[in-house]
Amino acid sequence: MLSPGKSDFICGILLGVLIASCCFALLHRVVRQQAMDTNTIVLTLGHGLDVTHPVHLGMVSMQERLAELSGGTMRIEIFPGGMLGSEPECLEQVQVGLLDMAKSSVSPMESFWSELQVFTIPYMFRDHEHLWQVLDGDIGREFLEMSPTMYGLTYYDAGARNFYSVRQPILSPESMRGMNIRVQQSRTAMDMIRHLGASPTPIAFGELYTALAQGTVDGAENNLPSFESARHNEICRHFTLNEHAFVPDMLLINRNRWESLSPLQQHWLKTAAVESSIFQRELWAKEEQRSREASERRGVQFHEVDKTPFITATAPMRENITDPVIRDIIRRIQEAQ
Ligand code: GCU
Repeated sequence: MLSPGKSDFICGILLGVLIASCCFALLHRVVRQQAMDTNTIVLTLGHGLDVTHPVHLGMVSMQERLAELSGGTMRIEIFPGGMLGSEPECLEQVQVGLLDMAKSSVSPMESFWSELQVFTIPYMFRDHEHLWQVLDGDIGREFLEMSPTMYGLTYYDAGARNFYSVRQPILSPESMRGMNIRVQQSRTAMDMIRHLGASPTPIAFGELYTALAQGTVDGAENNLPSFESARHNEICRHFTLNEHAFVPDMLLINRNRWESLSPLQQHWLKTAAVESSIFQRELWAKEEQRSREASERRGVQFHEVDKTPFITATAPMRENITDPVIRDIIRRIQEAQ
């Protein structure tokens, strides 16, 4: 039984969430209505990151470029920070056409395109350059085209994912025993944590700060700009440079919405998206460094570790794959020079 105080508190939170959702749904309708009134094409775009994050800044540059290319006849309205829901929720809205566009990590997308699990399988890529050779090549293009309901416009750089923890540093899989680690909504990510000897807990990115602060989880894994811009560095004392995965972000548009655009409008949007990805990739390295320095100033300790035990513990995830389609993609990834 919940105590009266606690149940009032929970009711308060639920009411707050309900009011916020209604406000955003209303806002969303207002944006669409305004567009109908002015004949401007307004595309709504939802994502879960902070407005200081380099991936958000990439999308802002796309917004500006599209307005310029289209002479103001096309506009993108960005709803950041999970305003319209978590990234998996935004994707669901794009699939059914409630939202025009979403930016999401590819990890949770594996639930509807299992091929995308190759990005979350640990130590699949040799390094950052290897990832981009694959994304810029045939595999990357095939994945953008894969869905019947959504069209992938481009990728954004989300660097290397690393472990971070509140109290105990993660120095090897041994040191992860008994820890609860937050992961994205991805079976592959959960599997990775189990292979490393810890317990996975899927939590929406927007709820992770509280989960870390309240001790629901002992740690998480992400890239440096997300660690810093979501202020996880206020709570976590340790950041481990183990680089277990290079999981990119993808920008998608509802397929019917895409097909409703004229070839010229599609060209403007695609150009703005691709150029924004180039800009964002250049920004990434600087932002990783800046986030690290800002976190060090907050007292976070960075740990250089031997990656070998992490690679060994997760080897079955790369070696025991039976699905011939995934095996073939992995072979092509490994062959990419
Ligand atoms: C990265 C990624 C986000 C994602 C987040 C997460 O920061 O860019 O799209 O939401 O990881 O771990 O949930």
